[in-house]
Amino acid sequence: MVCKTVLITGCSSGIGLALAVKLAKDKQRRFKVIATMRNLSKKDKLEAAAGHALHKTLDIKQLDVCDEKSIRNCINSIPQRHIDILINNAGVGLIGPIECQSIEEMKAIMETNFFGVVRMIKEVLPDMKKRKNGHIVVISSVMGLQGIVFNDIYTASKFAIEGFCESLVIQALKFNIFVSLIEPGPVVTEFEMKVHEDAEKADYSQTDSETAEIFTNIYLKNSKAIFSSLGQTPEDVAEHTLKVITTVKPPFRHQTNAIYTPMTALKHADPTGALMTDSFYKMIFRYDTLLHVSLKAIRIIRWQAHKMRQGARLLGFR
Ligand SMILES: NC(=O)c1ccc[n+]([C@@H]2O[C@H](COP(=O)([O-])OP(=O)(O)OC[C@H]3O[C@@H](n4cnc5c(N)ncnc54)[C@H](OP(=O)(O)O)[C@@H]3O)[C@@H](O)[C@H]2O)c1
Repeated sequence: MVCKTVLITGCSSGIGLALAVKLAKDKQRRFKVIATMRNLSKKDKLEAAAGHALHKTLDIKQLDVCDEKSIRNCINSIPQRHIDILINNAGVGLIGPIECQSIEEMKAIMETNFFGVVRMIKEVLPDMKKRKNGHIVVISSVMGLQGIVFNDIYTASKFAIEGFCESLVIQALKFNIFVSLIEPGPVVTEFEMKVHEDAEKADYSQTDSETAEIFTNIYLKNSKAIFSSLGQTPEDVAEHTLKVITTVKPPFRHQTNAIYTPMTALKHADPTGALMTDSFYKMIFRYDTLLHVSLKAIRIIRWQAHKMRQGARLLGFR
């Protein structure tokens, strides 16, 4: 079986780390993983998780998606610059009222989540075109399809990369290069922790007291409840990504959390946008008690399902 070279960005934690380990430990040995991160002093966690795969099916290299030189150095260090599958995973978040965010902070999000992916694709695309073979994967988000309150800039960065890929995919197909967007809902990683920590420390004096109150007392509370009720693990997302990269004709879009599919379909059901704005407005400002009760119920059902799976495993069922 041919072993494919897979380069993944942002492997110091979360989805990138879980995916790098999953592919490197593939029982069929289908992948050689170049797990990259911008700061190699953070490599211990990945090294520990990779175990025996380290230096065999997994190598760690430095790569900052905001630095063209570091991208070029990394790709040049790979024999014949041959990458079969590029997985753009590195990303950063930003939440809160826009009045409290500087343009510089906003640009930093676009630099990583949009231009970071564009830089990577620009570097590998000519080689893939020459070989008439390749697969470009982007870890996008359901927020690349549907805006969410107080995620204005993050959502914009994911919409931007979705639009970019939607344009690129057709040209790429002519060269037998596939493009796939993986669209997770909430995933319990350091990402959520980092954005919440930043939000809790932030200064809300630049906005009015009502907006600050909505953000801290409604948004942050709802968001925490949503992550603990509906959140996936990075390993779940890695499993979905493995399926996408091993499919003969990979899909252009793949959502990892079926609970979110109806949410992303609202705007297509009503092109005026009224159904979408109305539903979100009511869910946040009118029926938030119902939202919390539903989330609690889902949490209990998922916990019970988890216990049943554990019990079944103990009894020897798969
Ligand atoms: N968590 C979620 O709920 C969720 C949902 C949907 C989509 N996503 C997407 O999933 C991807 C991975 O996020 P995650 O949840 O796994 O978060 P995470 O644990 O915070 O991982 C993000 C990774 O990106 C890296 N990174 C940030 N800026 C970089 C740069 N300039 N160059 C190279 N690497 C950089 C981080 O490195 P450092 O350690 O150096 O910061 C880290 O390794 C992101 O694109 C995110 O938008 C996440």
